[in-house]
Amino acid sequence: MKKSKILGVGHSVPDRVVTNTELSQIMDTNDEWIVERTGIEERRWFTPGIDTVTSLSKKASLIALERAGIQASDLDFIVFATITPDYYVPGNGVLLQRELGIPGIGALDIRNACSGFIYALSVADQFIKTGMYKRILVVGAEIQSSGLDKSNEGRSSAVIFADGAGALVLGATDQENSGILSTHLHADGNFAEELYCKDPGSSREDRFSQELFDSGSFFLKMNGNVVFKHAIVRFIEVINEALEFNKLKKEDIDLLIPHQANLRISQYIQQKLNFSDDKVFNNIMHLGNTTGATIPIALSEAWEQSRIKEGDLICLAAFGSGFTWASSLLRW
Ligand code: UT7
Repeated sequence: MKKSKILGVGHSVPDRVVTNTELSQIMDTNDEWIVERTGIEERRWFTPGIDTVTSLSKKASLIALERAGIQASDLDFIVFATITPDYYVPGNGVLLQRELGIPGIGALDIRNACSGFIYALSVADQFIKTGMYKRILVVGAEIQSSGLDKSNEGRSSAVIFADGAGALVLGATDQENSGILSTHLHADGNFAEELYCKDPGSSREDRFSQELFDSGSFFLKMNGNVVFKHAIVRFIEVINEALEFNKLKKEDIDLLIPHQANLRISQYIQQKLNFSDDKVFNNIMHLGNTTGATIPIALSEAWEQSRIKEGDLICLAAFGSGFTWASSLLRW
């Protein structure tokens, strides 16, 4: 059976840097609180009229394609993870496909928030393993900043979420013990309302009423404490699941790339696994939490910084809205 392998990875973030001090001018917060609770020092927010989810993902994709040494026209399919598409309908996959000038190939959107990119990778991996497609563009991209509640009520989420895009090209390989070794996907909808954006929900008499706008139900709501407590358990569980499935030990992992939810969560996982700093990749300090984009952006930055070498065992893990959680082990 064919296996899938990452041929190239790229990322793009908006130019606009938003510091904690800048946030403290629009809501009741401060640099000390944000750094202490989240580790975030600054993040990127889009510039209206310049950046779109499509434009950021196009830039990331072109870099990934160049590093893979292939043209957009060589792609067979697009899987696009986002919860913040440029349009409500259609999804962002088709918009990116249009921008890349490759009409005709299929494009699928995945709406699994922070775990979305690993779900997308898993879907692409299955298509390659079955032989249906040979080269798939897998994207994670978000513009969260335009939908954040920047009043004091929403400040615990507003200081975390940010904008950016990452992409990778997944290709078929015959090499044994190389590429995506496994993916593991989970969800528990009992916790759907712990981190969610209720509107514009379809089961409303008028889903765009002024009343709904005024109620604040268009904003992302997060019960941060509950999310945090579940995240630290599920992260460890799903990393161990991937290791056991592949009969590997945690010591075999060369680099862990956790979804960048909160630096404190990553540090907790690192401590539980007893990993040294060089075994865990974090960039949330400068980029914030870009939801479905954190993992491909981190993968691209890690690669650029030579933190990933041929043959390395990489572990990806994520947790977020749903709740959903997921992991993947791959041999670079
Ligand atoms: O990526 C998707 C998954 N998301 C996550 O994994 C996020 C998980 N959760 C978290 O990262 C943390 O829960 C947060 C960073 C969101 C919040 O940190 P926390 O330590 O759980 O704070 P808290 O919500 O319990 O709030 C503690 C205090 C409260 O004040 P009182 O009631 O103790 O007086 C808040 O009102 O901090 C206050 N607070 C703030 N103060 C300054 C909340 N947000 C802020 C803020 N600036 N931005």
